[in-house]
Amino acid sequence: MLSFTPTPAILYALALILPILAPSAAAQQPANNTVLSGPFQCAHNGKYMLCQNLWGASTGVGSQKSTLYNSLSSAERTAWSTEYTWSGTPGGVKSYANIMSTSPKDRGIQLATIISARTSWNWAYVSRSADLRANIAYDIWIGAPAAGDPATSAASYEIMIWLSSVGKIQPLGKIQGSGIQVGGRSWTLWKGTNKTWQVLSFVLDGGDVMNYNADLKDFFDYLVAKQGVPSTQHVQSVQAGTEPFTGSAKLMTTNYSVSIIRK
Ligand SMILES: *[C@@H]1O[C@H](CO)[C@@H](O)[C@H](O)[C@H]1NC(C)=O
Ligand SMILES: *[C@@H]1O[C@H](CO)[C@@H](O)[C@H](O)[C@H]1NC(C)=O
Repeated sequence: MLSFTPTPAILYALALILPILAPSAAAQQPANNTVLSGPFQCAHNGKYMLCQNLWGASTGVGSQKSTLYNSLSSAERTAWSTEYTWSGTPGGVKSYANIMSTSPKDRGIQLATIISARTSWNWAYVSRSADLRANIAYDIWIGAPAAGDPATSAASYEIMIWLSSVGKIQPLGKIQGSGIQVGGRSWTLWKGTNKTWQVLSFVLDGGDVMNYNADLKDFFDYLVAKQGVPSTQHVQSVQAGTEPFTGSAKLMTTNYSVSIIRK
């Protein structure tokens, strides 16, 4: 079971947000929330873009909507939520609602030139069904050309960092090893191939982390040193979101940021 120990910061943030999510308030649709309901709809706030991305929806039955909290966002950080119900094809991911920085400062950066890539992600399930099967994960796209959209042939590597795994789900491919130390935490690494790129998935050993604070450069350094990723390749985009397989949940991100600094 997931142990839920909200920090004061999360409780404070949830206290701010829960009234907004309450049905009476939702009916009024505060202008400073942007609600996405279309399958591939996106919304922008500052450098961040939230997308629903219901790419696997046709393999199941369900619905999903995602919300960008503009009033809780600033130039540096953003807040968003997604709420869904999915059934059918237990082994199939239905969607990847995700947040991404569209800033040129955070995209198309050669690995060898990265000084730091700080990120922080505070999240919590506001509600979830007992049968939920879903992950919460970064999806980082790396490729030879500087420019490339996620999940296109421009990518050579898809790096996933799983901060949560609920239900019996697993990443693509095969286990390479467990107890791998990167960025001060221990991971099980999975490796496989999807289309034209290699998928490397880091899954946290020993449970979920709801207040994640890291320098993604630790992962990039590991990938270059131990997994043969050429340091001449570029970080094309950093996404952070959730992949539900089946079940229902409301996932709240109260504070997300990513920022890359290069030489
Ligand atoms: C495989 O690639 C497609 C995009 O073409 C992507 O939507 C899907 O998430 C990928 N599957 C895995 C398991 O990474
Ligand atoms: C959001 O996270 C950043 C990075 O950890 C932190 O500096 C900032 O104070 C946080 N903001 C809120 C409102 O929690």
